[in-house]
Amino acid sequence: MTARAADIGVWRAVGRDLARHYAIRQRVFVLEQRIMEMTDLDAHDRDPNTIHVLAAQGSCAAGTVRLYPLEGELWQGDRLAVLPSHRSSMVGAELVRFAVATAGGLGGAQMLAQIQLPNVRFFERLGWTRAGAAAPYCGLPHQPMVYDLTKAPATTWPGRPDELVLEPLIEVQDLRAG
Ligand SMILES: CC(C)(COP(=O)(O)OP(=O)(O)OC[C@H]1O[C@@H](n2cnc3c(N)ncnc32)[C@H](O)[C@@H]1OP(=O)(O)O)[C@@H](O)C(=O)NCCC(=O)NCCS
Repeated sequence: MTARAADIGVWRAVGRDLARHYAIRQRVFVLEQRIMEMTDLDAHDRDPNTIHVLAAQGSCAAGTVRLYPLEGELWQGDRLAVLPSHRSSMVGAELVRFAVATAGGLGGAQMLAQIQLPNVRFFERLGWTRAGAAAPYCGLPHQPMVYDLTKAPATTWPGRPDELVLEPLIEVQDLRAG
């Protein structure tokens, strides 16, 4: 899993892009997966230390991830979400790589994440390892996983495209209807 896609931009979301970041999370975690009711926003979204990340494929907003420091040099990553129409295009892999490169660049030593069981292999292929036993989280079994941030390559990504659109919500409704 080393290929890079030239049309994928990844950057820290602020301002109007933060609203797009929240909208993608809402579509994936609340409307599609239904693992959270009403909203997936929590106190970390109000914490100024939290880094919200947005990815685009071409000019389309495509995915999110969120990261924040815990105690010491420990970081947490969560809210990895790629819109259905942009999956299997390396957007998710680039978001994970961006998250660990960002935390590593800020002096982090390890990043933790709670991973849905069907995605454990995806994270293992990106260099993450299991850390203990799976346990319920948000009503679903999740595998705690860890990444050694000292191994995170200091990569750079194309940033925000000049024009950025968020595709209509119909795609998620179609997915559920189908
Ligand atoms: C999980 C998710 C983020 C993956 O994003 P994605 O953009 O589709 O993944 P990518 O295209 O970057 O995948 C990179 C590689 O991992 C593989 N892969 C993707 N999902 C995988 C999975 N669940 N298990 C194993 N491999 C997977 C891809 O086939 C691809 O392989 P390749 O390099 O051989 O071509 C996306 O499916 C998603 O948003 N799902 C819903 C929300 C979710 O589950 N979030 C994670 C919570 S822990």
